[in-house]
Amino acid sequence: MTVRLAVIGGDGIGPEVVAEARKVLDVVLPGVDATEYDLGAARYHRTGEVLPESVLQELAQQDVILLGAVGDPSMPSGVLERGLLLKLRFTFDHYINLRPSKLWEGTVSPLAGVAPGEIDMVVVREGTEGLYCGAGGVVRQGTPAEVATEESLNTRYGAERAIRDAFERAMARPRRKVTLVHKNNVLVNAGHMWSRAFADVAAEYPEVETEYQHVDAAAMYLVTNPQRYDVIVTDNLFGDILTDIAAAVTGGIGLAASGNINPTREYPSMFEPVHGSAPDIAGQGVADPAAAILSTALLLDHLGRSEDARRVEAAVGAEVAGRTPGEPVKTAAVGDAVAARLAD
Ligand code: NAD
Ligand code: IPM
Ligand code: MN
Repeated sequence: MTVRLAVIGGDGIGPEVVAEARKVLDVVLPGVDATEYDLGAARYHRTGEVLPESVLQELAQQDVILLGAVGDPSMPSGVLERGLLLKLRFTFDHYINLRPSKLWEGTVSPLAGVAPGEIDMVVVREGTEGLYCGAGGVVRQGTPAEVATEESLNTRYGAERAIRDAFERAMARPRRKVTLVHKNNVLVNAGHMWSRAFADVAAEYPEVETEYQHVDAAAMYLVTNPQRYDVIVTDNLFGDILTDIAAAVTGGIGLAASGNINPTREYPSMFEPVHGSAPDIAGQGVADPAAAILSTALLLDHLGRSEDARRVEAAVGAEVAGRTPGEPVKTAAVGDAVAARLAD
């Protein structure tokens, strides 16, 4: 069956890293039916459009989406992030935002004394609710009496489906441990609902070890003892923040991959690096495309092509292991090297 792939390069380094991911997909998924979508700041400035309804309808017909990054200093903050990226995550019900982190052989962690292989965790970040829901508003804008509210939407259904996914993933991993991260000492409404859902789901998985941590403590342990984690399940905003920390301790944001997954397959799932458009290095050919390439491994897993996914991970692992610490990467050279390894 031909795979229909939508490619959204986006802004900044997005198109640069996606081009390298495409090189890899061309090797492991020959004959893929890829369509490039021109979305992001350039289109907005040209046409005023962020994500036309017709494009959304077309994207819905694809099997999978590969995205680079969105967001540009020329745009008011949030227009593309909300209007494009979050719009896709919400419309296509990407309720699992999957973010694995592992310390690859050859990568240098900023943490002293952590050996490759010792950190191997996956964060299941709830992807459609919480403070991201967009509810709230501003009154008396621009006056000293200005008030802004940002509401967090949490449903038992939403929490439970993310939690159940985390337990299923833990069952397939050797350590079989799930950590719920929230802030139920303060967020006594949503936090306790998450804890109740967690306890109920945990009862169905007696083989899985469980623990609960407040998010502030988890942020600390991710730096002092990241080895302790296997699967973390958490809400949308906590997951956003914790996965940048998890990336930082495992070799950097340039290696952090993610999948926005709709497990029901009712809609296309979307794969993208955890990082953003990195305007500070855009256009220089120095962005690390490893995160985008590793995101294609998650895409391949989603398509049921786990063997190809492991091959892509191994090829990236070998390329990373051959790097000289401190030496800047060259975007195209990384893609070429990984694709060449896979073609052998
Ligand atoms: P960022 O991830 O773009 O950059 C943070 C830092 O990491 C920068 O110093 C950047 O140079 C570095 N970096 C990021 N990716 C890298 C890579 N592949 N190789 C080497 N270095 C890399 O985060 P930011 O600066 O907070 O945000 C910039 C823009 O991107 C904003 O508009 C933001 O909203 C957007 N953003 C988009 C996404 C997304 O599309 N998924 C994710 C995060 C941020
Ligand atoms: C990410 C990004 C996005 C998020 C933004 C750009 C909407 O930071 O993918 O981690 O907060 O989810
Ligand atoms: Mn983020």
